Amino acid sequence: VVGCVLVAAGSGVRLGLGTPKALAVVSGRTLLEHAVDCLARVERPGGDPVVSVLVVVVPAHELDRCRELVLASWAAHRPQDPPPLLVVGGADRQASVAAGLQRLPPVDTVLVHDAARALAPGTLVSAVADAVTGGAVAVVPGLPVADTVKQLSTRSPSTGSGPAGGDVRTVERTLDRASLVTVQTPQGFRADLLRAVHAALVGRDPDAPTGAGDDAGMLEAAGHPVVVVPGHPEAFKVTDPLDLVLAAAVLTRRAQRG
Ligand code: C5P
Repeated sequence: VVGCVLVAAGSGVRLGLGTPKALAVVSGRTLLEHAVDCLARVERPGGDPVVSVLVVVVPAHELDRCRELVLASWAAHRPQDPPPLLVVGGADRQASVAAGLQRLPPVDTVLVHDAARALAPGTLVSAVADAVTGGAVAVVPGLPVADTVKQLSTRSPSTGSGPAGGDVRTVERTLDRASLVTVQTPQGFRADLLRAVHAALVGRDPDAPTGAGDDAGMLEAAGHPVVVVPGHPEAFKVTDPLDLVLAAAVLTRRAQRG
């Protein structure tokens, strides 16, 4: 049984819309609705749904609106199945994941997905779920790095200031791109292991940042192997205003292709 925690409780400051990012509208629907659509629709080859149970983590001040959008999107595809549970998020992403996991009923596999990656294709969701059911304990989708990546020297007080008044930082070395990937969501996990690494976060003040990275990073730190499956360019994270333009273009192209 596969459960999914969809985190949508971020503020979206960088988008600059004045609403939480998950409520940004692309092609007439919010990112939250696009994300729920995908998770509700994705099926195994026999027609069974991939995601049996969904918990959606949302901002406290938009709980009612989010509940309405989530329940309607889910019911449009899965009217006969139990509706998603809505939970209020925490101070940072990992606090929100922890809040979602606490409400997730017992399952074998957990997918953790960002609503900000609302256009992740269903094929990516099933590939990650399949890799976990196939025996991996932690799975992340990864994409090759297109840009050259340089590691900077640590900031030092003697670096002076740059032309714009900021710190001047120098390059320490150029990283080997071939050994790097950027990772996306959904990330997939054996439920018991994900719950174990999150147990440390349970019961803490939900308004205090956890300081933890992503979920795969938490398992990695606990010594578990993290497997990489091929990511998908359409699973990009909507972060900046330009990403909304790309998201609209992706949806237009999908509509044209039927
Ligand atoms: O901020 P960023 O885009 O990296 O957030 C990634 C995902 O985590 C988003 O879907 C966002 O809604 C979610 N998040 C959350 N709770 C927070 C911060 C981020 O659910 N406190």
